[in-house]
Amino acid sequence: MKTTIYKPQDLEEIAMILKQSGLVAFPTETVYGLGARAEDEEAVSKVYQAKGRPSDNPLIVHVSAIEEVEKYVTEIPKNAKILMDTYWPGPLTIVLPIKKGMLSNIVTGGLTTCAFRMPDLKLTRQLIEQTGPLVGPSANTSGKPSPTKVMHVYHDLNGKIEGILDGGTTTVGVESTVVEVTTEEILILRPGAITKEMLEETTGTSVKYDAHLIKENEAPKSPGMKYKHYSPSVPVVIVYPEDFKQALETFKDERIAIMASQSLIDSLALSEEVTTYYLSEGHDSQEAAIHLFDALRTLDSPQNTLILAEGYKEKVGLATAYMNRLKKAAAQHIYTPNQ
Ligand code: TXA
Ligand code: MG
Repeated sequence: MKTTIYKPQDLEEIAMILKQSGLVAFPTETVYGLGARAEDEEAVSKVYQAKGRPSDNPLIVHVSAIEEVEKYVTEIPKNAKILMDTYWPGPLTIVLPIKKGMLSNIVTGGLTTCAFRMPDLKLTRQLIEQTGPLVGPSANTSGKPSPTKVMHVYHDLNGKIEGILDGGTTTVGVESTVVEVTTEEILILRPGAITKEMLEETTGTSVKYDAHLIKENEAPKSPGMKYKHYSPSVPVVIVYPEDFKQALETFKDERIAIMASQSLIDSLALSEEVTTYYLSEGHDSQEAAIHLFDALRTLDSPQNTLILAEGYKEKVGLATAYMNRLKKAAAQHIYTPNQ
């Protein structure tokens, strides 16, 4: 199969492909999604094949209007409505109980709930208006870093999908916050750009993290969070800024690549053999999150034997989401300096 890269003016052609059970990756503000019509079982099952995704990992249904969600769910709790009104379109995915038989088990992984999101990219919402709701898992091979550029999608899925809609580089860089909302409580299943503090401020309700996000050995409520993820072939170790000099000494026999802020890299006075990737100018998790997945893909090269990645200790803004993804990429390996 030839994978075509489409431009925004090709929207009608893309809609036609999707209506004929084809797969087209689409851009969003977070990462690229692999699109198929949510009500088309044949197309949705091809999404799992193309990604090599385990079948018990449910998909997010992307909508262009809140009314499209109403069709599928038993109810929209008050707090969910408040969150939709405040953050949609935007990087927030809301898990809601669904009416029986309205969505295929292939979409929901057999759960009685479904995750919904309205992406903050007009082009993609215009596409959804033409096709109806689209499933959109991140458009990467399962286990690899999510795609933030067309070429990331092409690298993983060339020959496996009909096309990719080119929307340039994504602006948030990490996937949406996933929340489960009940009348009493809001539970964060996956951290993202919409933070715990923002959710609390908007709803006046207590917001908790799923136990898995606090203690890694707890089973996650979100099936996808249990899988190995974001992993380059080259091992990754997280290093906090103050420990970098010592880490370079510890790993001096490795062919090291460093992904960190420019200010940190400049302060290390590195030899020329060390490959570097600037995640941000200064220590800034929002900027680092945008470049995280591109950095992991770029440094995943046989010329490197170890990637050292800048860690963030603070738990504000995008830092929580950045560290959540990076810890998975590093298989939880954080450098501890010798005392
Ligand atoms: O930003 C995003 O959310 C991107 C863009 C393309 O929209 N999509 C994305 O999809 O990250 P995916 O499939 O890679 O991640 C969806 C996550 C998985 O961890 C999955 O297990 C979880 O959402 N999820 C989906 N449905 C769920 C449900 N009913 N209950 C709990 N978790 C669910
Ligand atoms: Mg994914």
